[in-house]
Amino acid sequence: MDRSFDPRTIGWIGRALGHELRAVQQYAAESALAALWGEERLAEELWAEAVEELRHARELMSAAISRGVVPPPAGGLPSPRLAASPAELAAIHERLEWEGVRIYESALADAERWRDQEAANLFQSLLEAEVAHWQRVRSRRGSPATPAEEEKKRGEEGHHE
Ligand SMILES: [Fe+2]
Ligand SMILES: [Fe+2]
Repeated sequence: MDRSFDPRTIGWIGRALGHELRAVQQYAAESALAALWGEERLAEELWAEAVEELRHARELMSAAISRGVVPPPAGGLPSPRLAASPAELAAIHERLEWEGVRIYESALADAERWRDQEAANLFQSLLEAEVAHWQRVRSRRGSPATPAEEEKKRGEEGHHE
């Protein structure tokens, strides 16, 4: 067993795991939906997204387990959002991925403040993955918004983390 994580870090692992499992659920449901639309290629792309998010979840689980901690329960996942058409998917994805970016930014800042270098490395690598994912989704949508503009827009919509 490795050295223990700060208990507060385990809190962030639990929150991040909740996000990743929600993303798995969202992309898996969309893959099923796309198959029903007869969009086989889209269904496969969405399935690949679900698997990538599942990989992130496994990394977080591995970090907890290797330090002798049972991965925190994800509990209380909301239902997946079902788009009415393929065109609506990008907006859902952009919001979901931005949520991931925000979680890992905050988790990384805390891990650095607590001088928990191992956790900081983990959160940094997952932050980079989610920023890349968010940018990929955003470019598909062709959105001109910067992260700060997006955050402001979300604030005006009354969204709270
Ligand atoms: Fe992820
Ligand atoms: Fe992601």
